[in-house]
Amino acid sequence: MKTGAAGIELAVDWLKNCKFLFVLTGAGVSKESGIPTFRDALEGLWANYNPEELATPQGFKKNPSLVWQWYDSRRDKVKEVEPNPGHFALVEIQKIVPNFFLVTQNVDGLHIRAGSTDVVEIHGNISRFKCFDKHHEQADVPGGLKEPPKCDCGSLIRPDVVWFGEAMPEKLLRSSFAAAEKADLALVVGTSGLVQPAASLPFVAKQNGARIIEVNPNRTELTDSCDLFLEGPSGMVLPEIVEKLRR
Ligand code: APR
Repeated sequence: MKTGAAGIELAVDWLKNCKFLFVLTGAGVSKESGIPTFRDALEGLWANYNPEELATPQGFKKNPSLVWQWYDSRRDKVKEVEPNPGHFALVEIQKIVPNFFLVTQNVDGLHIRAGSTDVVEIHGNISRFKCFDKHHEQADVPGGLKEPPKCDCGSLIRPDVVWFGEAMPEKLLRSSFAAAEKADLALVVGTSGLVQPAASLPFVAKQNGARIIEVNPNRTELTDSCDLFLEGPSGMVLPEIVEKLRR
């Protein structure tokens, strides 16, 4: 397992020769934008709650106002921040490799704001809304509400995100696994690899012959299965790779 400069050089070589790059990102890629990773997010006012109380259908039904206000505060936070060099580096890589498929577990929309296209937001997006009972899409819901508004059908409106215990959008899941099967190279950035089924995607790529590169300041559940572990923050490692790719 190479790291440091040798690792970067190897990653550049693999990217230069790859035919189909599959990318999976997690909360770590947004950390340098100032978005706390999922489990950090429960800081300050929210410190006394655990994600399972806030990011679940049961939590929303039990206390719609609390859950609504937590997501509202996260939406405000996302509006205040900008994509970071790691997001922008992935936009550049998408222009360089012949085939590129990006799946993110993040709901902050920062890949799209950075300019990535065809992003698969497998856990949804906190700036999109639907109604709880019928999933009717909702346009421009105002910020700063203390209670979730109601859909025309009478159901409460909720963030269009996948909560714990909810199934992921079937179509997105199918296309993500199909892409992982096609890939000859996978790049896993800023995820602890703890949450299924997203965490299985790199292994599907590997089973189909892909090499796996991981970018993370810490070792994770995936690290031992990766072919290359680039230890460091994605906002530094990815731009360094792009800079060498362009040479
Ligand atoms: N650059 C890259 N990775 C980083 C950085 C950074 N600057 N800072 C932290 N990380 C790494 C951490 O080491 C950790 O491995 O980002 C990862 C974040 O892990 P989690 O907080 O578990 O986030 P994630 O893997 O995206 O969680 C997956 O679980 O909580 C649910 O639905 C939620 O989408 C989320 C899913």
